[in-house]
Amino acid sequence: MKQTYIEDIASHDGEAVEIRGWLYNARSSGKLRFLLVRDGTGLIQAVAFKKDLPEEMFNLIDQLTQECSIIVRGSIHADQRAPGGYEMSLQYIEKVGGAVDYPITPKEHGVNFLIDHRHLWLRSSKQHAALRIRHEVVSAIRDFFNQRGFINLDAPIFTPAACEGTTTLFEVDYFNDKAYLTQSGQLYMEAGAMAFGKVYCFGPTFRAEKSKTRRHLTEFWMVEPEVAYMDLDGLMELSEDFISYIIERALENRKEELKTLERDTSKLENIKPPFPRITYDEAHKLLIEKNFNFRYGDDLGAPEESAISESFDKPVMIHRWPAEAKAFYMKRDEDRPELALGMDMIAPEDVGEIIGGSQREDDYDIILQRIKEHGLPLEAFDWYLDLRRYGSVPHSGFGLGLERTIGWICGTPHIRETIPFPRMMYRIRP
Ligand code: 4AD
Ligand code: MG
Repeated sequence: MKQTYIEDIASHDGEAVEIRGWLYNARSSGKLRFLLVRDGTGLIQAVAFKKDLPEEMFNLIDQLTQECSIIVRGSIHADQRAPGGYEMSLQYIEKVGGAVDYPITPKEHGVNFLIDHRHLWLRSSKQHAALRIRHEVVSAIRDFFNQRGFINLDAPIFTPAACEGTTTLFEVDYFNDKAYLTQSGQLYMEAGAMAFGKVYCFGPTFRAEKSKTRRHLTEFWMVEPEVAYMDLDGLMELSEDFISYIIERALENRKEELKTLERDTSKLENIKPPFPRITYDEAHKLLIEKNFNFRYGDDLGAPEESAISESFDKPVMIHRWPAEAKAFYMKRDEDRPELALGMDMIAPEDVGEIIGGSQREDDYDIILQRIKEHGLPLEAFDWYLDLRRYGSVPHSGFGLGLERTIGWICGTPHIRETIPFPRMMYRIRP
């Protein structure tokens, strides 16, 4: 018999089908057995009557344990009370593989235990839902840029130079030379933008984050668009369109998963352009009004980000930052050269910064000066300087942290649950 996936079950109402999966849960009541079967695409309840099955099959059911693999056959009919809206009347069952003492049981487990068993935890309904949302967000990200004519141009993982400061670099031995795992593909995307006009890279990035917060991974995914002839205003417009599109796609295509996660989606439905835009000066003023002891010129920490985002029901874009708080490559504001044309987007609901971006410095002499001021090794940036030597133009780009975005959509407080196998300061297994 041909295999049917549970997600397609609605089109098989009244038919007999075969489902290949695993036993999620079982209970019995007299001569009835209720099996909750999962196949990776969904859950379905299969009901067995003693009289409908050969005796050895009925007896087999009582020996099945949680997560053993099974093949079941039976006819499908709609049933309002059943999880998923359909039920199978079991006519055949076969055990494929056993599962003795599956470690994750319906009882509560500590989070460390669960992450130790991440390879199995992926099968649990909430983890499963979060990672299906991740899949949707990844597709939405690619669709957004592809539909707008961006070329996907991925950046290397081994790099000779730091992009986001030297304190969070992972150094690797590269044939007796030093190399670093990439912190950001931006510098390569700047080369790409000069070649293709609009490009994006999308891949893993690495930061030796010694902070143990719920927002930091040492390996996380970032999508980084870069556009020639785009200024900071254009970048903010692109950012709000982009975020709105991702949220819309998740709301449209992952309703079930959001329900599984018990997410209050009303807060997400409101995420439509335009987003509020405030300057760093205004953010500073807001913090002082809220009685923060916040020094002008400092970067925002988690408490400051929370306080600012509380004042808005949409993501807020903070632009024009004191240059000392930002990276070497940002262009300065013409009217106030002490300010960098950078932009951070802070998501609501205490998620923190999801986007960091800027207009880039496009003048050869100035960027050379900045590289020197930041104590960066000139030989590693020689190729980057070429981009200002040959046909330099105004250009801008940003980086979106994938896991923080998924954490926001899912309403999961810690981003370790938004990536299949999280990497953190104290976590490299499984
Ligand atoms: O603000 P960041 O450091 O910006 C850059 O790397 C730019 N070069 C990007 C660009 O303009 N092309 O990082 C961008 C985003 C942050 O806003 C945050 O969402 C995410 O990456 N991020 C992290 N996510 C998880 N764990 C970490 N340790 C992260 N560090 C940054
Ligand atoms: Mg940042």
